[in-house]
Amino acid sequence: MTVQFIRGEVISFKDDPFLCGSESAIVHEEDGLICIEDGKIKAFGSYSEIKGMIPADASITHYKDSIICPGFIDGHVHYPQIQMIGAFGEHLLDWLNKYTFPTESNFADKSYADDVAKRFLKKLIGAGTTTAAVYCTVHPQSVDAFFEESSRWNTRMVAGKVLMDRNAPEWLLDTAQSAYDDSKRLAGKWHHAGRQLYCVTPRFAPSCSDEQLELAGQLLKEQTDQPLFMQTHLDENVDEIAWVKQLFPGSKNYLDVYDKAGLVGPRSIFGHGVHCDEDEFHVLHEKGAGICHCPTSNNFLGSGLFKAFVAKDEKRPVRVGLGTDLGAGTSFSQLSTLNEAYKVSELNNTKLDAVHAFYLATRGGAELLYLEDTIGSIAPGMEADITVLDCGHDEFTQWRMGYANDLNERLFILMCLGNERNVKSTYVYGRCVYDRDRAEPFQYPQ
Ligand code: GUN
Ligand code: FE
Repeated sequence: MTVQFIRGEVISFKDDPFLCGSESAIVHEEDGLICIEDGKIKAFGSYSEIKGMIPADASITHYKDSIICPGFIDGHVHYPQIQMIGAFGEHLLDWLNKYTFPTESNFADKSYADDVAKRFLKKLIGAGTTTAAVYCTVHPQSVDAFFEESSRWNTRMVAGKVLMDRNAPEWLLDTAQSAYDDSKRLAGKWHHAGRQLYCVTPRFAPSCSDEQLELAGQLLKEQTDQPLFMQTHLDENVDEIAWVKQLFPGSKNYLDVYDKAGLVGPRSIFGHGVHCDEDEFHVLHEKGAGICHCPTSNNFLGSGLFKAFVAKDEKRPVRVGLGTDLGAGTSFSQLSTLNEAYKVSELNNTKLDAVHAFYLATRGGAELLYLEDTIGSIAPGMEADITVLDCGHDEFTQWRMGYANDLNERLFILMCLGNERNVKSTYVYGRCVYDRDRAEPFQYPQ
């Protein structure tokens, strides 16, 4: 049994600020103490109140000029696409054909996939992100490469093989049956293997036949004891939506294509949702499905402005998390992603304050994944995935922070000026696997 203590200024969330207001959603300890035992948070409170539980011989890691928060959760990201971040000049459908499909072809080679998975997880952990919902490629070996590396870090990851049996180059296609068989085998191998979780991953409606979508739905239905996750893209781009209408004339709207196949329910994660209509929001709410907001990607591909406050309408609130959507997105950092989310919100004439923002990147993501009882908050019983954001490392940010009047302003400055360079340390299941200032910053947990 290992017990350790972390002391410093801590923020976390106990509720959804979109629904109950920012004040009552946030938990803030100016001088907090977190006690971790065997990977989980055993106690959390103000230092002065709970310091009595520290044994005489215990070591305390004290972070000064820092904000300690739950590990960030990236609700939508494509690890194979990190090699093509910043691919110039196209909107979604041409971007897929010109850049994405050729890039993803490389993942037929397992050793190539191993290399990219290693790079990806280091970048993610270095950005303070401890959980992500990850698209692999059509190749089953791309899934093994990812989960093998995630297992080394002991990160809690949700990932799956991309299903695509049409409208892409022939060498990148599976079939409805092979997709079902491969997904079932991979789920059997990886779902709840340690902290890993399997996600059935139809790429998006235009790349999946009716039969493929139906078999994906069947796979979800078959697995009842430990339900699988499901992720896909929804209402990202107007040309894509017009194409879906053409391909599926019998469906009421884009979401209905997935709903007819049994793909809309709890643990269904829909990327983007930029152009969702009221009907779709209703169905998402009723079925307990969620949307991942991907602002850097939506801006980069010119896809449009996701209306987070409409999605969160109190009459039928939808679960919403935050995603980088690399390689259409442009940063590994959830701080940079929030910077962009704020600007999108302004263009929608709504006010995304720092509490809304940090909630989206932490507990909001956990709710999107139905893991809010496991990760995404600093509270007793939760898995100890923790990020330490340092305001002192960067002299300019520290100076600017000196002019902030309260916590809200400091968090807001951090998301406007900050990025992965402001991540001092990342803890995964209680282990400090990244420390920016260590001789070897990245270390697999022992
Ligand atoms: N729609 C289908 N595939 C993709 C993808 O790889 N990235 C994005 N942003 N949208 C998609
Ligand atoms: Fe995506």
